[in-house]
Parts: sequence; structure tokens; C-alpha cells
Amino acid sequence: MNFDEIIDRRGTFSSKWDNMEAYGGVSPDVGIPMWVADMDFQAADVLQDAMRNLLERANYGYFTGENEMKEATAWWMKERHGWTVDPDHMSSTAGLGHAIALILETYTNPGDEVIIFSPVYHEFAYKIKLNKRVVHEAPLVIRDGVYHMDMDALEAGLTGKERMMLISSPHNPAGRIWTPAELRQLADFCRRHDLYMVCDEIHHDLVYPGQSFTSFLNAAPEAAEYCFILTAASKTFNTAGARLGTVTIPNDHLRQRFRQALVEHQTQPNLLGVELTRAAYSPGGAEWVDALVSYIDRNHRLFLDGIGQIPALKAMPMQATYLAWVNFADTGMEMSEVLRRIHEDARLVPSIGTGFGTGGENCLRFNIATPRARVAEAVERLQTAFADLQ
Ligand SMILES: Cc1ncc(COP(=O)(O)O)c(C=O)c1O
Repeated sequence: MNFDEIIDRRGTFSSKWDNMEAYGGVSPDVGIPMWVADMDFQAADVLQDAMRNLLERANYGYFTGENEMKEATAWWMKERHGWTVDPDHMSSTAGLGHAIALILETYTNPGDEVIIFSPVYHEFAYKIKLNKRVVHEAPLVIRDGVYHMDMDALEAGLTGKERMMLISSPHNPAGRIWTPAELRQLADFCRRHDLYMVCDEIHHDLVYPGQSFTSFLNAAPEAAEYCFILTAASKTFNTAGARLGTVTIPNDHLRQRFRQALVEHQTQPNLLGVELTRAAYSPGGAEWVDALVSYIDRNHRLFLDGIGQIPALKAMPMQATYLAWVNFADTGMEMSEVLRRIHEDARLVPSIGTGFGTGGENCLRFNIATPRARVAEAVERLQTAFADLQ
């Protein structure tokens, strides 16, 4: 577990590294990619052992093991989140982007509105639009420096066409953990307005020491009848390439419909995803995650302290995730100038905030799940690029 080790990912078909020049115009030879949400660390030993076993078996044919993976997933949820979940309520998808698309397709109709709290993970709005549903944005408001949901404004702006609410819990970007009271409020809102609730908990393991995350169904068990809980080992263990996500649907009728949709689409989990997820959700995996979180926590403090020393830059305090959200509005600069400095002067490639919807206009999202030396380098480059700010 040497998270300080610099691993050269250039030319390894890593999307974050190999596509950074196309996205941000910065060569991977001189730049630091801080956009795509994956990590630059070596995989956990439990994953490497699983891969070695697979390699030794030397056969990649049809397989079983999905049930054991679901049992391992249920063990993890109980052990790490105090959430008792029935493995029979789980279905496997090809990642959570796929799960969201399939849920939209199965339970809503073209023209229906889906509520999202912006700024939020850009794929939410993208998937909604791609499926010809309508994005109903509920902009988050900043109070005491962090995001809050404005439920009164949401209620006042309802059109009657809303069918679903989709949230990121913890929240991407900015790493806000919604409190049990907030989650209960959302559950109640969905019940009163007859909305399905889709709660994406993909970031739930990456919670900083001293913070506590509550699974949606622990906060609001009564919402079991109309909710979908999305989880995956992919953010926690950096296995996004294995395309495996889990959708937990406690309601029998809703679950049957989802299973039917999977059958109609001939969707089955893949061998790599199942093997890696089963291996990840284990005591050895837990040990690795504890070390990882403590490492990222120190990265996050280094990054936020460094940003804090640049006048006019505001990094939102984070409770979870490795995605730091920095607001440049107080620089008084056009975002084109901010981006010029970030790309050309600092040679960093963060995610551009506009993609996250309303509220993201003046922001950039920085992925800090990389060896500390690189985070320190990124901070120094930012301080130099904005040294003229007073
Ligand atoms: C909230 C959220 N959901 C889903 C995903 C992506 O999931 P997948 O790679 O399984 O499609 C991400 C990736 O960053 C995310 O932040």
C-alpha cells in the first residue's frame, strides 16, 4: 500500500491520461490530469490476487459467481455502512451510468421530468436528455460555505410532470454528505409528489475521518417502496474499467420490471467485474480502503490549504470524495482567462464546472486521488498561475 508511488499511466489506455490533451489541450508529458474520476494508485492486493487466480485458471468462458458477489456486497454494506440489504434485491448492471439509463428508460416516459440538484455529476443531465426525458434542475444554494437543497424553491417550481428524483449521495462535486434529516426530507418529498427516488451512493466509502455517511434506506426505511439504491466497488477500488454496478430495489414489483428490462437488453455482468467486486468487498479490501481514505484525507487537506492561500479562490469544504470543487468567481476574471491560466500556465486539467449544470459556471473540479507529490505540485502551479491576485 504505497500510495506515494508514482505510476506512469501515459500510453496505457488510461482515459484520464491519454485523453487529457484532447480535453484540456495539455500534453500528458508536462501536465497533471485532474478531471476523470479515477485514481492513479496501484490496485489493492486483494484485487491483484483475484486477477492472478483468474490468470492461472486460464479460462474466460461463461461463469457463475454473481450470487457470491452479491453476498459479498451485502456483507460490505452491513460491515461498512450498517445497512442490512438482501442480496436478492440486487441486480447487476454494466456500471452505474448504465443503471441510470436503464432506470430512466424503464420507469419514466419521454417528456417526463427528472429532478436533479445542480451542480451535480454531469452524466445525470446527459443521460436524462439522451433518453428524451427532461432535466428539472433544483439549484443547490450555498449556506455557511456548503451546499444545501432548497426544498421550498423546488416545491414552488414543480410543473406536475416530475416522475423521478436522482441524487448523488455523497454529492459529486464538492463532497457534501447529506444528513439523515435531509435524506428523510427528500424521501418525504418523493412520497408526497409520487416520485421514484434514485439514490446514487457510488462515493459512500470515500468518507473522511470524523465524518459519517448514512445510507438512504437507513435514514428513510419507509422509502423502500419507491427507491433505487445505486452502489459499486468502482470508485472505492478504482475498478471503473470493469463496468460493474449494483442496483438495489427492495420493492418486488419494481424489481421484477428492472430484471425484465435486463433480460430484454440481454444484460449480464462480466467476469472481470464480478471477480473484482467479490474480491474487493472483503476484510482485506476494507483494510486497503481505510489506508486509502486516510491518504486521500491528507491530500485533501493539502489541496484545500493550498487553495486557501490564493486570494479570491474558494474551495468548498469536503466531507467525502476525492473531488475538490473550486470557485473562481471572486477573481473577477472571465472563465476563459481562468482556464487559459489553468491549462497554459499551470498545465493542469481539471473538469470544467459548466458541465455540472447551474451553479457550476465559475467552478472547476479537481481530482486529488493521485500521489501527494503531484497534489503538492498542482498546488504550487496554481499558486504561481494566480500569483498576481491580491
Ligand atoms: C455520482 C456518480 N455516479 C456514477 C458514476 C459513474 O459510474 P460508472 O462508471 O459505473 O458508470 C460516477 C463517476 O464519477 C459518479 O460520480
